[in-house]
Amino acid sequence: MDFKLSGRTALVFGGSRGLGKAIAEEFKAEGVRVVIVARDPTRVARVAAELGVEGFSGDVSKPGAGRTLVEQATELLGQSLDILVTNTGGPAPGAFAATTATTWQSGFDNLWMSFVDSIQTVLPAMRQNRWGRILAVTSVAAREPQPGLVISNSLRAGLLGLVNTISREVARDGITINALLPGYTNTDRMAELGVDDAVMGPKIPAGRLGDPKEFAALAAFLASERASYITGQAIAVDGGFLNSI
Ligand SMILES: NC(=O)c1ccc[n+]([C@@H]2O[C@H](COP(=O)([O-])OP(=O)(O)OC[C@H]3O[C@@H](n4cnc5c(N)ncnc54)[C@H](OP(=O)(O)O)[C@@H]3O)[C@@H](O)[C@H]2O)c1
Repeated sequence: MDFKLSGRTALVFGGSRGLGKAIAEEFKAEGVRVVIVARDPTRVARVAAELGVEGFSGDVSKPGAGRTLVEQATELLGQSLDILVTNTGGPAPGAFAATTATTWQSGFDNLWMSFVDSIQTVLPAMRQNRWGRILAVTSVAAREPQPGLVISNSLRAGLLGLVNTISREVARDGITINALLPGYTNTDRMAELGVDDAVMGPKIPAGRLGDPKEFAALAAFLASERASYITGQAIAVDGGFLNSI
């Protein structure tokens, strides 16, 4: 299937490891001009060189970063962005009783404001070009709360409402926006949470954690011309983990 992505431009937040890196790699293979952003400058530079893409360091959770990082990527590419992937590190785990106001606020800045600021910044050019793809990496926790992830469970559910709301405002401009819900996928984040195949495999119908490439395949499709009539959706890549329909 020809995704007709060759020559398109993309910015992938959190693109130096895990799901973001897999998406950047998949886009590159489809001929997209990709920029990745993550905090660790050494790793960003190494991964950008490895993948043959552009990259620079930045922290999406800082106030206003969503806007400045989009502007920096646009300048680097010398052209406006066709595809934006909002993605960042997972918020601090914990139970409700143990979660302080400061932790809630940093979770909000990280998961929400980076999303709001970056999308507001890319939309004018996408509208002018009458083409755009916005992919929001969230979590299966947005649909079914997961144990010990109070911030993720709460804030990500709200983001699905925002994704659907934006989709209605921009659909006539040729812009689609969808949420991608990773299930348990083999990345550093899972290692940090102490999750591996032995722990989670038996609880997943597929019997194993996902591979980041399996997740990135959905991102490439949703970014493509072929997905032009799919918008406002929340789509899981989870080996059958979610029970909801
Ligand atoms: N893997 C899973 O099974 C799974 C399941 C459900 C949801 N998710 C969610 O999906 C997202 C990506 O997960 P992942 O597994 O790919 O995580 P990961 O392996 O920890 O990778 C996170 C990436 O984001 C970058 N990053 C982290 N914080 C950032 C920040 N403030 N600003 C800019 N870049 C930042 C990291 O690089 P630096 O550290 O250098 O910044 C890295 O490139 C997370 O929000 C995670 O909670 C993952």
